[in-house]
Amino acid sequence: MTGAGESASVVSLSSIVTRFGKNVVHDGLDLDIQRGEIVALVGGSGSGKTTLLRHIIGLTRPAAGQVSLFGEPLDAGSTYEQIARRRRFGVLFQQGALFSALNVGENIAFPIREERIASDDEIRQLVTLKLGMVEMEPEHALLMPAELSGGMIKRAALARALALEPELLLLDEPTAGLDPDRSASFVKLILSLRDELGLTVVLVTHDLDTLAAMSSKVAVLADRKILSYASLEDTMNIDHPFVERFFRGEQGRRALAHINGGG
Ligand SMILES: Nc1ncnc2c1ncn2[C@@H]1O[C@H](COP(=O)(O)OP(=O)(O)OP(=O)(O)O)[C@@H](O)[C@H]1O
Ligand SMILES: [Mg+2]
Repeated sequence: MTGAGESASVVSLSSIVTRFGKNVVHDGLDLDIQRGEIVALVGGSGSGKTTLLRHIIGLTRPAAGQVSLFGEPLDAGSTYEQIARRRRFGVLFQQGALFSALNVGENIAFPIREERIASDDEIRQLVTLKLGMVEMEPEHALLMPAELSGGMIKRAALARALALEPELLLLDEPTAGLDPDRSASFVKLILSLRDELGLTVVLVTHDLDTLAAMSSKVAVLADRKILSYASLEDTMNIDHPFVERFFRGEQGRRALAHINGGG
């Protein structure tokens, strides 16, 4: 069978070219991600990681190349079908981005309300359920974003990303600015959601502890391409200046020491 069958990639990027004026960010970039993978997308600052996530969800379009989600090109089908495809992923942006004028509950309810299928009562129950998934209390629904700690903002934004029970979750620096305990519980949360919901996850991260703890594969964005897409172990052995700095620098060796010892 062809089309959106079981074997189709969840995310497929082919020959992507991205330019901002004279700045060529991606040049013939390819990447195929299968269901159930937790992919860490790494690369230097300004290498085009966030831009790539934006292409994946159709917020921006590459100058050339093809983006497919769940086996179909992003722009395939009717408007209705494109909207249906959009419901199948959740996004947590780099800046955590909650709507500052809405309280936590309204933020989480936002994508659900857009569906226009749930009653107010059902929405309240769903909000409580989603808050529970990210280890927040029902009464946190009434807090405004400005009243939350950094970790709570990340978790509330994750709850909103999970509102429509996505199959694909895109996370841009989900643990940046969190203390190590909070990062560790964030990682545990994502892993349990992957197990419960069968999520595919693409996360951008500079945090090697997070990367080592949760990713099944590492995609290295360097020289305007996906330089490698492999296990962490294989990635660490690649001979490239970025990989050298990122994985084998001082901080890298410290963060990764335990995966070599652990077995
Ligand atoms: N809307 C835009 N207009 C012009 N240039 C842009 C735009 N968005 C991104 N860029 C440029 O594209 C390049 C990639 O940016 P991007 O935000 O994707 O990097 P990144 O890998 O996410 O970096 P970081 O790790 O710092 O978040 C940068 O040079 C940036 O200046
Ligand atoms: Mg970025």
